[in-house]
Amino acid sequence: MPLVTTKEMFKKAYEGGYAIGAFNINNLEILQGVVKGAKAKNSPVILQCSTGALKYAGPKYLRAMVEAAAEETGIDIALHLDHGPDLDAVKLAIASGFTSVMFDGSHYDFEENIRKTKEVVEYAHAHGVVVEAELGVLAGVEDDVVAAEHVYTDPDQAVEFVERTGCDSLAIAIGTSHGAFKFPPDYEPQLRFDILEEIQRKLPNFPIVLHGASAVDPETVEMCNKFGGNIANAKGIPVEMLRKAASMAVCKINMDTDLRLAMTAAIRKVFAENPAEFDPRKYLGAGRDAIQKVVEYKIENVLGSANRL
Ligand code: G3H
Ligand code: 13P
Ligand code: ZN
Repeated sequence: MPLVTTKEMFKKAYEGGYAIGAFNINNLEILQGVVKGAKAKNSPVILQCSTGALKYAGPKYLRAMVEAAAEETGIDIALHLDHGPDLDAVKLAIASGFTSVMFDGSHYDFEENIRKTKEVVEYAHAHGVVVEAELGVLAGVEDDVVAAEHVYTDPDQAVEFVERTGCDSLAIAIGTSHGAFKFPPDYEPQLRFDILEEIQRKLPNFPIVLHGASAVDPETVEMCNKFGGNIANAKGIPVEMLRKAASMAVCKINMDTDLRLAMTAAIRKVFAENPAEFDPRKYLGAGRDAIQKVVEYKIENVLGSANRL
């Protein structure tokens, strides 16, 4: 089963009112946990690697492992570059067999973002690879304050951006945020569905992407802390809000933090309960199982992508 692009996945997801989960992978156990979850739910999946993941594991290892996963499971898998910083990173990913790339020019001004994204689109399309771009800036929590640089995506700019760059999907800022500390403890998370609706109206049938979409399950954080962790004030996006977004124009939902927390909690538990254990298969295997559970939960409760192969 060769790796696929996201083109067909997004078309079906848009029409079906669901989204494809894009899960970050960094090693064998994370990859296996994700694809086992997707296979168990009969769901397509996007496996994505940040530049940090490429540096950690190496593009050749990652590609080979992902190809093995596609062959082993027979499910539709796209291999995606997450937050590509420049054309060089995109070229490396494409040369390494990735079927989809993100160019993240969200920190540039509008014209510069368009210019650089267009360059990436021309290169990627010439190589049969699809491009996700980003417009708007995601919030982050710094010193317990929602970062001032948070900029919601402007729907009119989104239309102009898509038309002028030719990108295949667009990541937008409507209130999500990266990491485990998305909001101050007393802040009620909100997503700007009005912006999403307007973008959907102005760009019909165009796939929208949500980054920073981990839910940060309090029980998982508690489990990390119970077994020796120290993670304070973690907070994520409520599951019902994500499910609503998935039923609209959002076709790809990015989750990494929830996998990290689940794997860490499971490994901490093995270490705490079995201090004599030193077989990596025992604790990494527990981490892998925990990731599989999270992915199955997301497919059922967030994405709606079960039985969509
Ligand atoms: O959005 C970023 C992803 O969670 C990847 O994080 O750069 O630490 O691999 P990373
Ligand atoms: P989370 O940190 O919310 O998991 O978001 C991951 C992400 O957006 C990867 O690009
Ligand atoms: Zn992201």
